[in-house]
Amino acid sequence: MITAIEDVAEPLSAHDPVAGVDDHFPLEPSHPCYMLMRLAEEAMAQRQYERAYEMFTAAARADAGSGRFTRKINRAMRAVVPRWHFRMMHDAERSRAYAQAIEQVVGPGQLVLDIGSGAGLLSMLAARAGADQVVACEAVGMVASGAREVVKANGYSDRITVVSSPSTDLRVGSELPRKADVLVTEIFDCALLGEFALPALRHARQELLSPEAVVLPRSGGLFAQLVESPELRSMNHIGEIEGFDFSPFTSLASLEYFSTNLGNYQHRVLTPPVELFRFDFGADTQPEQQIVEVVPQESGKAHAVVMWFELDLVPGITLTNNPETSGLHWKQAVQTFREPRECRSGEPLGLRATHDMESVLVNLC
Ligand SMILES: C[S@@+](CC[C@H](N)C(=O)[O-])C[C@H]1O[C@@H](n2cnc3c(N)ncnc32)[C@H](O)[C@@H]1O
Repeated sequence: MITAIEDVAEPLSAHDPVAGVDDHFPLEPSHPCYMLMRLAEEAMAQRQYERAYEMFTAAARADAGSGRFTRKINRAMRAVVPRWHFRMMHDAERSRAYAQAIEQVVGPGQLVLDIGSGAGLLSMLAARAGADQVVACEAVGMVASGAREVVKANGYSDRITVVSSPSTDLRVGSELPRKADVLVTEIFDCALLGEFALPALRHARQELLSPEAVVLPRSGGLFAQLVESPELRSMNHIGEIEGFDFSPFTSLASLEYFSTNLGNYQHRVLTPPVELFRFDFGADTQPEQQIVEVVPQESGKAHAVVMWFELDLVPGITLTNNPETSGLHWKQAVQTFREPRECRSGEPLGLRATHDMESVLVNLC
């Protein structure tokens, strides 16, 4: 009977997602994989999804590659690997912009660091642009394994090393042979900071990059405008339903922004866009507060503030999830206000915007 993954000699690698599913019959306690399956199910129940994935995969191997565990393996994998990877990879504008920017700054003789490799796109763009060596790091082990397979399939394994680790665990002289000449990264959510880009970049500048290293993207701006939209407010607020008062449930509403497509909701724009923050990714950033004045161009009730970024990869190459023009996979960042505010056309009001390096919060002054 197999009771642990260590009992299975073969090393673990990504399972074949197209293997047949054959899990109609419950596993009998006498089956050699029974204990391993029970342990894996326990790991799932305890939300230890990577461990569950490893154990289900080991059970499948021990079960002579039967499809009995395919569905369970896939369920564990899905809990670890976000589905947006697929949508993001099809964002052709994003890929093209990074490809052109990387062509401009990467060349022979360079060591490139890719923070947050995902499937390995930026690393392969850097290798294709002529980099001598690329070290890619990816915090999610299964994604790193997937990237390794992609790099191999494309013939770049001799120049790209995928390290399964958060960038903050990398060490020069260990995973990185020396300090890198170029940093390429795309660890930005719809409001830039939500994937902890600033702490990762600060660590990289302090520990992993040569003093004259090029950082790509070089900077980013965060923009905002106020909108009237009862529909958007209802995404984060509950009042009366079927004669019941649900307003106490609103204490569980999101204080900070959530990601959604502004265009999917009826709304009226009340103010022109203003820049809240600009981040120079090559320099140190501290938590900040800004008070930015806006002058409504329309009277109405401000239910929410909508935010988006402009990411300057290199001079002349910019990506934006601006609601007016964006065809990118990123949606907008929407923060609803606890109390909507009446605005009058032409009467200025202040937006107090703060960021703590990880997220942005806007209040009306
Ligand atoms: C938005 S995806 C982009 C993937 C890839 N760079 C691309 O452009 O297609 C970001 C990836 O970075 C990883 N990640 C985020 N911060 C990281 C960090 N500090 N170190 C390593 N991986 C990180 C996430 O797990 C995720 O897979």
